Order: sequence, then C-alpha cells, then structure tokens
Amino acid sequence: MKYYLPLAFVLTLSFSAAAQNQKIEKKIDSVLKLMTLDEKIGQLNQYTGDRDATGPITNNPNKLKDIRDGKLGSMLNVRGAKETREVQEVAMQSRMKIPLIFGLDVIHGYRVTFPIPLAEAASWDLAAMENAARVAARETAASGVHWTFAPMVDIARDPRWGRVMEGAGEDTYLGSKIAFARVKGFQGKGLGNLDAVMACAKHFAAYGAAIAGRDYAAVDMSDHTLWEVYLPPFKAAVDAGAATFMNSFNTLNGIPATGNAYLQRDILKDKWKYTGFVVSDWGSIGEMVDHGFAKNKTQAAELAIKAGSDMDMESRSYLPNLAKLVADKKVPVALIDDAVRRVLRKKFELGLFDDPYRFSNEARQEKELNSPENRKASLSMAEKSIVLLKNNNQVLPLAKNLKKIAVIGPLGKSEKDMQGFWSIAWEKDNLVSLYQGLKNKLGDKTELLYAKGCEISDSSKTGFAEAVEVAKQADVIVMAVGEALDMSGEAKSKTNIHIPGVQEDLIKAIQATGKPVVVLVMAGRPLIFNWTADNVPAIMYTWWLGSEAGNAMANVLFGDYNPAGKLPMTFPRDEGQIPVYYNYLSTGRPAKNDKDTRYRSAYLDLPNSPKFAFGYGLSYTTFEYADLALSATELKMDGKIEVSFTLKNTGKYDGEEVAQLYLQDKFASVVRPVKELKDFQKVMLKAGESKKITFLINKEKLSFYNQQLKWGAEAGDFKLMIGTASNNIKLEKDFALVE
Ligand code: BGC
Repeated sequence: MKYYLPLAFVLTLSFSAAAQNQKIEKKIDSVLKLMTLDEKIGQLNQYTGDRDATGPITNNPNKLKDIRDGKLGSMLNVRGAKETREVQEVAMQSRMKIPLIFGLDVIHGYRVTFPIPLAEAASWDLAAMENAARVAARETAASGVHWTFAPMVDIARDPRWGRVMEGAGEDTYLGSKIAFARVKGFQGKGLGNLDAVMACAKHFAAYGAAIAGRDYAAVDMSDHTLWEVYLPPFKAAVDAGAATFMNSFNTLNGIPATGNAYLQRDILKDKWKYTGFVVSDWGSIGEMVDHGFAKNKTQAAELAIKAGSDMDMESRSYLPNLAKLVADKKVPVALIDDAVRRVLRKKFELGLFDDPYRFSNEARQEKELNSPENRKASLSMAEKSIVLLKNNNQVLPLAKNLKKIAVIGPLGKSEKDMQGFWSIAWEKDNLVSLYQGLKNKLGDKTELLYAKGCEISDSSKTGFAEAVEVAKQADVIVMAVGEALDMSGEAKSKTNIHIPGVQEDLIKAIQATGKPVVVLVMAGRPLIFNWTADNVPAIMYTWWLGSEAGNAMANVLFGDYNPAGKLPMTFPRDEGQIPVYYNYLSTGRPAKNDKDTRYRSAYLDLPNSPKFAFGYGLSYTTFEYADLALSATELKMDGKIEVSFTLKNTGKYDGEEVAQLYLQDKFASVVRPVKELKDFQKVMLKAGESKKITFLINKEKLSFYNQQLKWGAEAGDFKLMIGTASNNIKLEKDFALVE
C-alpha cells in the first residue's frame, strides 16, 4: 500500500511520456511523407555561420540560398536572439518550412564564463557542475541557440593533449558522474522548456587517447580499455538523456570514428538503444579521405551514413553525394529516413515546429545574460574549482590587515586569459582579474603593488629587476603565472608542459627576496613546475576560472572560502612519465618504492610517482579518518556491504573534504588496476566536528569486462581503501566476494 501511490504516479508519467513520444513519431511520419529525397538530405547538412569558426571552412557557398532551398537542417555559430531569428526567417521561406537547429560550443558558460571543465571537475561537486551547466543553458537558450556541443566526456590521461581542459580528467568513475550531471544541467527539465538546450556527448569515441597526445592523431587501444575506461562516460550521457552525440576526428584501431559502425551503430544505436542523432565533428566525414579510408567524398558520405553518422558538420559530403548514392543503390533510403527521423524528432521535442522563433526573444536575452544570479553561480563554481597544492607554515590564508601586497607575474592583471579557451560569447568587461579581485576585497586598506616581471612566453628577463624591487616593498607577494588562454585547447598539443617562458625563473628571483610568496598557477592543463613545488611555501592551482576568477582567488587567498578542490588528473614530474595516471594495471615487477629500480617497472632517472597525484588537494583545515567498519567481510553476489568510518575536522577552520573510496580486485581473470575510484563524498565539517560517513559496496562496484568482454564480478579477494587522495590512503581492509 505504501508504494501504491508513487508507483501509480510513476506509471502515469511514463505512460504520458510514451504517449507524447508516439504523438511525435506520428508527426515525424507525416512530415517525412511530404519530403523529397533532396529535402531529407538537406536535414542532414550543417554549415557554420560567418563568425566563431572553429575549423577550416571548406568553401563559401551561398548559405542563405541553400537554407531557402531546403538544403540545411542546422547551423552552428549563429547566435543571439536577433541573428537566430533572421536566419530562421529564411528557413521559413523554404518549401517545407522545417525550422533550423542552431548549435554552438558552449563549453563552460555563454556570456558569463565558468571555470574550464577540467577545473570544475576539481570541485568533485556534482550539484555545482550541474548548476553551472544549467546557468550556461539558460543564457544559451535565451540567445536563440538550441544546442551546445558539450559536454566533452573524453577521458584524458595525457596532459600534452591540449583538450584535457575541456573534459573531466583521467578517471572513468568521476568522469561518468560528471557527464551525467552536465547533461542533466544543460537539458534541465527536458527539451521543449525555454531554458533547456540539447546536450551533445563528444567525441565518440576515444578521442582523448590520441597517440603521443597529438590532437587528431590515431588511437590504438584494446577493447578492454575502450569498454572499461573510455566508453562509460558516454553511457552515462545516454542514461542522462543526452539529445545528441558527436563523433570524433580520430581513427580507432584503424577505423575513423566517423566511419565506425561498431561505435555508432552496434554500440550506441543498437546496444544502448540511442534515439538521438549523431553529428560528425567539423569536417570529419570529408577527412576520411585524408585518412586514406575513403577514395573521395562520395565514398566518405557512403561510409559515414552507413556507420551511423546522421549529420554532416561542414564537410559538404552529404549534400552533393547522398542522392546519387541512393539512386545508385549504394545507400538504402531507409538509412536516410532513419537519420532524418532522428533530427526531426529533436526539432519536435524542442517545440520548433510549433514556433520556430520561440528561443529568439530579445527581452529574455537581455534579462538573462550576465545576470547577478549567473555571476554568483560562476563565482561559487570558481571557488570550488581551486586546488590548494601546498601551504607550508600556514602562509595561507593571508591576514586582511597586511599593509602592502605585491601582485607579480604576467597573469596578475590579465582579464582575457581568465576566460580560458572555448569562450565564444564572452564580453571584455565581464572578467575579473586577480588584481581587480584583490582590490575588490581589500579596498583602500591595503596598498596593492604590481609588476608584470615578464610576458607569458618571454625569454627575456629584463622585467625581473623592477619586479624584485616591487616585491621588496611588500609584506606578501602573490604571483600569477601559467598559460595564456590559447595554450591549452583544441589543436594545442605541447611536448613541453613546463610553465612557459622564464616564469619559473621569475618565481626564483622573487622567492630570493626572502618575502613570503604565494604562487597561483593559471592554466588549462596540468603543468610542470618542480622548483616551485619544492621551494615555494604556498601554491594554488587556479586553472582558468572564468568571469569571476579574481574574486574567487581573493576569497580563497584570504580564507573567506576554504579551498576543497582535488586534482581530477595526475600532475607529472616530467613529460617523460606521460602517460601517467593513478589507476594503471598491475605489473609482475612493481617498483616497491621510488628508489628500487633494479629490474623493476621503473625509470633509472626519475621515480614512478607523480608530482601531484589524482585526488590530491589541501584545505586550510585538517581531517582525520578513523574507525573503519565493514558490515561484513564476505559479500554475496546479490548482497551489499556497508562501509563506515568517522571523518573529523581536526583543524581550526570549517571546511569540506572529498573522502575517496578505492577498490582493488586482487586476483581476476583479467589483470586489474592497482586501484580504482569507486565512490566519493564531499563532506562539510565545522572545526572540531566529526561525522560518520557510509558507503555501500555491491557486485556492480566490483564488476569489470572479462576475457569475453562480458560485464560481471568474479568471486575472490578485494582491497578496500579510503583516503584523502589516490596516493594518501588512510583506512584499508580486505573483504571477499563469494558465490
Ligand atoms: C571540435 C568540436 C566542436 C566543433 C564545432 C571541432 O573542431 O572538435 O569539439 O564542437 O569543432 O565547433
């Protein structure tokens, strides 16, 4: 009886959703019947607008005429209530009057920029990330745009690859949770709502594993790694209801993802029963010719549509070729119909057939963009994204009654770089630099000195002398170093990921003054800065934090926000260690410690351990882990174990800790990683407070793909580890899974 009402309610909801879906399918049937083959093919064609191009534009067709002729289903890089309305009006002059979908790369905010996705991932705060995507969706939708090409859910284990900035880092469990949260955030209460945009899970698949970290390079990986490490975040995006997928530029084991039927048909559309549509990446259908996989664009079009790529972004392969391929009986018209159905389905769900201009509302746009509420959300997300790497002798937080603070470094007054790569719709007056953030916080009570010292990529040290003189006058020096916004991002692969130019020499020169130094590293990827890490007492990794960057940094520097970020990606000691990640597979000759290298899986010249490990990050307070208890030490296949422990805030400040649960399968039919993150909780504790934390372990958490690539768990012994970082386990205990 207790469950009767909710169940009835749930059933009513799903019946009404099913009825709604049926209605839409009928409408699609009726539209499809009226369309010529050319018009159908038009729906699968997408051009870029004239600005914000993010790839090479192949030619310059008469775009508006093509829209009028029904040759376009979607455009990217058209934005703004007015502009989208004007272009949509042209689509309404076409014979079928099928509205266009407008898509845009809203990767971390639209007008208000949020921290780059990798930075947000450092918050381990799923609700906050969902909210960040929600705000971005509201601004995007209010600007007439229906679709964001986000989230990028590619697992990335190689910081040479510039696009690590765009994802959630190296871990599959964390990455899957974040993928789910971001899709939910973008799509809100569902397509059709005026504050929801279509999400796009990209890049399907394995794009993040480009050989040598070189963007667009080939990917070669085992099926095990594909299924266990790279695919789960995509599955999470499907489970969250992601409206669309984007395929990827790379080849996977010799087959371009764009022409890969195993990925797009067998896995996505058949096994995962995906009903959304797949857009190609920019020009990726045509690039199958450059890959040497298709003889020409005609064959590329044939391979792509057969493999399940529904929409052609900017390669101009579908429009000129598909009709002939159908006439020549090389492509069954049913394949075209299926792709068109998928596109029309989304147009119906968005409500565009009822009102093609419903998102293009200038009054709403005016109200929504850059609203105080949106900025507040960005500030909060920025605070949560900062990772405190080092704080010797409690240099931080800084006292608010300091007389003079010097801001030194090429990023100290930078506004532009704060937005980070992939910020398309930002405006100049929207960004708060570190210097401005400190001014906002301190007013006139503290004198703020400033010297640039050098440019970001400088080889010249001529500015050092002045910077040293300025430093000498200050009580504390806050240094702002790192990358310019275009140093991490698409096509921004690097072999040298040390802090660029002479910036680390500048840090050495300032540190030599003997004054207390705090270094803030602002970047889009894990950088290497060993001297700084070993010698400077206080270091914060701030990434690129978006519109409110300076205010967030000031709040953390002065303790108005206690940092709680944890690294979502391993920081190497040297490029030679890459790829280095925490969940590597066991070896027969493990290095027992950093010195024991003889005939061990180790380096002669460097330890295996990273500089900063996955999951690492400090707080102004300290936490103690104690009293680990398991409800049982034997787990039945259909049972669960409750794991509990006490987490205590043992320091002087209220603060949050991300308690991390790792598991190791000690013996299995396929060699398992040394540890894998399988759960976490972000817990707020007042100074002195303790809380009992519980986790549940069941068979699902112990499962993996066996030799036949079947998902399941095997009986045997497991190690449970609970800690504050992947390399700082505080509690551990063994248990067994039994038949
Ligand atoms: C990128 C995609 C992006 C697309 C459209 C491509 O170069 O790989 O992630 O969505 O351009 O801008």
